[in-house]
Amino acid sequence: MKIIAVANQKGGVGKTTTSVNLAACLAARGARILLIDLDPQANATSALGFPSAEGLSIYGPLTGHGTLAEKVIPTRWEHLWLIPGDLDLAGAEIEVARAAEHLTRLRAALQPLRDDAPFDFILLDCPPSLGILMTNALAAADELLIPLQCEYFALEGLSKISHVVQQVRDCGANPGLTIGGVLMTMFMRNNLATQVIAEVQAHFGDVIFQTVIPRSVRLAEAPSHGQPILEYEPGGLGTAAYKALAAEFLDRHPIAGAV
Ligand SMILES: Nc1ncnc2c1ncn2[C@@H]1O[C@H](COP(=O)(O)OP(=O)(O)OP(=O)(O)O)[C@@H](O)[C@H]1O
Ligand SMILES: [Mg+2]
Repeated sequence: MKIIAVANQKGGVGKTTTSVNLAACLAARGARILLIDLDPQANATSALGFPSAEGLSIYGPLTGHGTLAEKVIPTRWEHLWLIPGDLDLAGAEIEVARAAEHLTRLRAALQPLRDDAPFDFILLDCPPSLGILMTNALAAADELLIPLQCEYFALEGLSKISHVVQQVRDCGANPGLTIGGVLMTMFMRNNLATQVIAEVQAHFGDVIFQTVIPRSVRLAEAPSHGQPILEYEPGGLGTAAYKALAAEFLDRHPIAGAV
């Protein structure tokens, strides 16, 4: 089982869109997926059609109440489970920061799931700040998937997050953390976008996914219908892109049972 943090401290770069749609496409391929919504905004939760309610998130387990396994709920898609986000998570920023072992709380809470391995992959949809939740995700994950918008400041953001990864390694919270993939999102064919991709490729080489996610209004609409793109527009460009990403992801992380 692998734990993947979908993270970038920059807001609005496609973390949630990628978490939800990659999760759905991997599940459709037969991989057993748990999506954990770490964001108090709970966008991934509503994108899968779940209302935001209190008491459902990882907040309890993070603050010493109950286990993560108790928080896992099935979705209407086969092979796809969710731990919702909720507003309580905003409080975790303060409460967990005060607690002992505050960086590795999520890592510890995930350990029983690692041991039992009821999932092939756990995807962590991170909030857009370098707060306690994102740091806990980095400390808990095997690797990072970094969505990057095809825009001028992309590389700057990437060097910031690389620095944080190095810090998480160096402080001993998670010495094995790697950047498993960089995903270019919201691509529109123009010189700037093409140039940004070339630059990221030059710095990160094979880590960058060949698949590039196009800008598509359908991808932005799907969450308001509580549907992954796979269901909302099965024949569309967004679906094709996230299916291709899932295929590339499975090439990098082969599992038994995927089709
Ligand atoms: N490929 C795309 N084409 C068009 N719109 C997109 C695409 N990807 C994401 N969006 C839209 O852009 C906005 C930001 O995307 P998303 O919520 O996935 O980013 P995020 O990184 O999770 O944001 P936050 O940092 O707030 O959590 C959303 O309105 C989303 O619907
Ligand atoms: Mg988000």
